[in-house]
Amino acid sequence: MKDKKITIAIDGPSGSGKSTTAKIVARKLGYRYIDSGAMYRAVTWYFLSSALNWKSAEQLDQGLSKIDIDIRLGQNDEPMTYLNGVLVERQIRSMPVSDNVSEVSSLPEVRKAMVDQQRKMGQEKGVVMDGRDIGTNVFPDAELKIYLVADTEVRTKRRLKELHERGVEASLDEIRRNIEMRDREDSSRVLNPLRKAGDAIDLDSSNLSIQEQVNFVVEKAQETIHRK
Ligand code: DC
Repeated sequence: MKDKKITIAIDGPSGSGKSTTAKIVARKLGYRYIDSGAMYRAVTWYFLSSALNWKSAEQLDQGLSKIDIDIRLGQNDEPMTYLNGVLVERQIRSMPVSDNVSEVSSLPEVRKAMVDQQRKMGQEKGVVMDGRDIGTNVFPDAELKIYLVADTEVRTKRRLKELHERGVEASLDEIRRNIEMRDREDSSRVLNPLRKAGDAIDLDSSNLSIQEQVNFVVEKAQETIHRK
């Protein structure tokens, strides 16, 4: 009999290692990986790079009706974000996007548009999605939910390394400030804030290697898949 497919939700604050873990877990299970943060980042980049202002209700509506986001696998099977057919992976990781994405992602219209699309992407199951509200709101029935956290200092250093690898210039202080600001804004917003789902499993990655985080999640996934 073929293994049943499940939905895996990985939530947690910025820099806790969600994307790296989720991406490798998906590869190991043969599942699709969806970085929901990349979708909010693409919306933010759209407004920053167009003449439309998200602070105007009319322009927000106008912009959202023109946005088409797609995540495709690029070289080495790396997920790449496309906005209206254009590759924007590098742009969406830039500091101006990081500085504005919490505000843009708190807007009800933006959340509705993204959550509708995320649910469509996950309707076939066999998906690993990471974000802030996946286990609580997007897929409250996900068979496996992980809540991934790590110390702020560890997260800051990881983000710096990741940005430098992508060729994005940023200082440690700038990144720390951004992480602290987003922690505050993402967990205090009214609509679907960052919160641990009641049935999520805690995982603190402060002292874990990527391999250890991945093994933990894959083991839990295998248990869930083979449980009757
Ligand atoms: O995962 P990330 O740091 O790339 O996410 C960028 C921002 O997007 C994050 O600060 C808040 C928002 N976000 C959200 O509101 N809901 C999600 N499911 C994922 C991200």
